[in-house]
Amino acid sequence: ERIIADYRNDYHLMAPVGWINDPNGFIYYKGEYHMFYQYYPYKAVWGPMHWGHSKSKDLINWETVPVALAPDQPYDKDGCFSGTAIEKDGKLYLMYTGHIEGETEEDIRQVQCIAVSSDGINFKKVEQNPVITEADLPENAKPQDFRDPKVVKKGDFYYSLIASRQEQDGGQILLYKSKDLLDWQFVSVMLKGEKGEGPMWECPDIFELDGKDVLLLSVDGLPKKENNFLNTHSVVVIIGEMDWEKGIFHKETVEELDYGLDFYAPQTIEDDKNRRIMISWMQMWGRNIPTETEQHGWAGSMTLPRELFIKNNHVYQRPVAEIKNYYTNKQDYKIIKLSDETKAFEELSAEVSAIELEVDVKEGKRFDIELRSNQIEKTLLSYDCETSILELNRVNSGIELVGKEEEHVYKRSVYCEPENNKINLEIFLDRASIEVFANQGRYTLTSTIYPTKKADKIKVTAEGIVEIVRLEKWDIEV
Ligand code: FRU
Repeated sequence: ERIIADYRNDYHLMAPVGWINDPNGFIYYKGEYHMFYQYYPYKAVWGPMHWGHSKSKDLINWETVPVALAPDQPYDKDGCFSGTAIEKDGKLYLMYTGHIEGETEEDIRQVQCIAVSSDGINFKKVEQNPVITEADLPENAKPQDFRDPKVVKKGDFYYSLIASRQEQDGGQILLYKSKDLLDWQFVSVMLKGEKGEGPMWECPDIFELDGKDVLLLSVDGLPKKENNFLNTHSVVVIIGEMDWEKGIFHKETVEELDYGLDFYAPQTIEDDKNRRIMISWMQMWGRNIPTETEQHGWAGSMTLPRELFIKNNHVYQRPVAEIKNYYTNKQDYKIIKLSDETKAFEELSAEVSAIELEVDVKEGKRFDIELRSNQIEKTLLSYDCETSILELNRVNSGIELVGKEEEHVYKRSVYCEPENNKINLEIFLDRASIEVFANQGRYTLTSTIYPTKKADKIKVTAEGIVEIVRLEKWDIEV
C-alpha cells in the first residue's frame, strides 16, 4: 500500500506543506532562478494567499526559502494574488494583486501592489501601495476582477499587463506603463475578448520568440470547442504582433497550449542563456485532489520547466536540458516489431523516470502503452494510426479525480500527425504526475495521477504492425 509520502513528486517543484497554485514572480536574478507561488501554508486547501518562495541554480533542484509575502496590509488583507518579478537597479521588485473582500461579492476589490528586496529573500511592501487601483480603471472594467500583473520592460518604460473582466462578462487585458514601477498610467485595452472567449481571463504573459510576439492567457470557463478546452480552465497561446506604441495586440493564431488534464497559469522568463522557459501549475481548479485530505497536509506541484520555441508558426515545448543531469540507470531497446500482440516489459518499472520512444506506425492500426502499470491500475497512452489521435487516459490510473465539469473528464487527446511515418514520444513520470511531449514538443499532455500501488512493468499492445524503433528509459534521481 502507498503511504502519504509516495504522492510527493521528486523532481517537480513543490512546497514543503500547505496548498500551492499559480507560479508567481518567476525570474533569473543574480545567478539563480527564483520561483514564487500562490501559497496557503496552514492547510492543504486554497486560503488567504501568501507568496511561497523557492530558488534553484538549475531549475530542477529547488530549495525552499522563507515566505516572501503575507496578506498583512489593508490593501491585501485577504490575499496576495498572482503577479510577476522584475529586476531594477539590482533590486528585485514584485508586482502582485492585493485582494480585499467585503460583506458581498460586489464588495471585492483587487488592486496592484509592489514589494522590493535587495537580497532576493526579504521583501518590503512600498509606502505608495496600492500603486494601481479602481480609480485607474477604464470604463467597462469590473473592480472585482482586476489581477495578475505581468511586468515587462520596453525602452524607457515598464509595462504591466493586467487581467480584467468586462461589465457584461468577457476577458480583457489592460495595459499600464511606468518609468519607476511606482507611478503608473493607463495606456489601453490591449486585447478584448469576444463572446464565447470566456467570462474571465487570468495570468497574462507576453514575450518575443523567434521574431513573433506570443501571449499566454489562462482562461476561466472557456466553452468547449471540439477536442479543445475540456477542463474547467484552459491555457491559450496566441501568436501575433504587439504594438507597444499604441498598446494593441494583433492576434494571428490561437491554440490550446497543453492537451492534458492539469495545466494552468503558466509563467515564462528569459534566462541568461537567452532561453524562454515556462513553468506551469500542474493541477486544475474544481477537481477533488486526494492530497487535500488532512493526512497529506500539502497539495499542488509545478510542471517540469520547459523551453519554448516556434516552428511552423506553432509554439513547441521541450523539457529543459538540465533534467538530463539527473538521469540514471539507462535501459534501452531497439527495433521491436509487434504484430497484433502485447509485450510486457517486466524489467521496466518506471516510477520516477523519463522514457523516450520512437514508433513507426506505417503499417499499424493502433498502439496502447500502459504506464505506471500494476495488477489493478494503469495510465494509458494510446495512438490511433488511422485517425492520428494521441490520447492520455487516467481513468484507471489510481485514485479517481472527479471534477466540476458536466461530464467526468478523465481523458484528453490531440491530433498528432506522424512525421516520416513516426511518432516520437518523451514521457516524464513522477510520483503523482505524467507529462508527455509528442513529436519533439509540438504537443504536450500534462496530468496528475495517483496510483495506489507500485508500478511493475510497461506494457505495449499493438494492432496491426507497429515497430518500436527505439525505446530508452532512465530513472530520475534528484
Ligand atoms: C489563477 C488565479 C489568479 C489569482 C490566483 C488566486 O489560478 O485565480 O487569477 O490571482 O489564482 O490564488
